[in-house]
Amino acid sequence: MKINQAEFVISNMEVEKCPAPDRAEYAFIGRSNVGKSSLINMLTNHKNLAKISGKPGKTQLINHFLINNEWYLVDLPGYGYAKVTHNMRNRFERFISDYMLTRPNLTNVFVLVDCRHKPQELDLDFMLFLGEHGVPFSIIFTKQDKLNKTQTRTFMKAYEKEMLQTWEEMPPYFVTSALTGSGRDEVLAYIEEINKTVDYSNPTL
Ligand code: GTP
Ligand code: MG
Repeated sequence: MKINQAEFVISNMEVEKCPAPDRAEYAFIGRSNVGKSSLINMLTNHKNLAKISGKPGKTQLINHFLINNEWYLVDLPGYGYAKVTHNMRNRFERFISDYMLTRPNLTNVFVLVDCRHKPQELDLDFMLFLGEHGVPFSIIFTKQDKLNKTQTRTFMKAYEKEMLQTWEEMPPYFVTSALTGSGRDEVLAYIEEINKTVDYSNPTL
């Protein structure tokens, strides 16, 4: 898929204030600092569409971007960011789960996982939560440029092994780098294929 247009629409903290659910929507989520905003910029070919930071906790709102006037891409705050206060964390979690469970046009959730770390409980739990509620998801492994080919293969094998303890099969997954652009074509082709199968333009259907 060619990205001809990528524009910021709205940031907010309430599901009710999200844009009308009249287009397919793809959400990007994962631990703080995993590279969500960087990946979004890489996918859309924009340097600063989503804000990037060396410090975790940069993205604190639900951010809607309209792509090719056809589908929404959503940048979400990272989960598991320890430095926000306990109260803030509950607020985050509630609003993320509200969003995941009530957004009618949520087409697919991309769960981002840093390919340098062994499987983390927080990510596995989050995927279980999505699975239990029937929310379709895929995994995007990020920062692949930090590993060589052999290390990437070893990492993937270990991750798959862990996933298969709980899941019957691996969900669709992609290995990406915001630095080199690897995985970009695959992720965009995947979104393009799904877009062909969904239609949210008439909410009464
Ligand atoms: P929050 O919004 O804080 O939850 O973080 P985020 O998941 O949006 O991460 P962000 O894109 O802000 O990136 C965090 C840090 O990781 C930044 O210093 C990025 O430059 C770096 N980073 C992101 N993606 C990559 C990548 O593919 N390769 C490398 N080497 N660094 C990356
Ligand atoms: Mg971010």
